[in-house]
Amino acid sequence: MTSDGDTGDLSGLIDRLAPLHARKRGGLLPLLHAVQEEIGFVPDAAVPLIAEALNISRAEVHGVVTFYHDFRRTPAGRHVVKLCRAESCQARGGAAIEKAMQRRLGVAMGATRGDGAVSLEPVYCLGLCAIGPNALVDGRPVARIDAGAIERIAAGVGA
Ligand code: FES
Repeated sequence: MTSDGDTGDLSGLIDRLAPLHARKRGGLLPLLHAVQEEIGFVPDAAVPLIAEALNISRAEVHGVVTFYHDFRRTPAGRHVVKLCRAESCQARGGAAIEKAMQRRLGVAMGATRGDGAVSLEPVYCLGLCAIGPNALVDGRPVARIDAGAIERIAAGVGA
């Protein structure tokens, strides 16, 4: 699958998944999750196919894909760092950590580095508020992030 999802496979994928969700009320979210589970992201090219399959507008599908942070519109990097942006982590210096993390990893929040090594994504509370600022690195929680932790994370993802 290419990064823009420009492939006949995409149409086949939607044809296969949509009937599982089309008749349910609120079928859009589970269908989007199913697409992302299968190919790792929801390509822009999937939006009109999903809209047609569920008989809803493209704007509605696009709105949901862009509203929920869980949906990726491009393929993820080989490593994924999710940094908590919720209130408790912000109160513990999260904004400065985010700036330092972006600088050290060489990627903006919400983006994947040009070489595909790492994606930096926001997450909103990991349930570890008392020991923030926190992140998930390839699904593994990392608490009390400071400059040393950023170095370790960067080394771990080859940045
Ligand atoms: S606010 Fe960051 S873990 Fe809860």
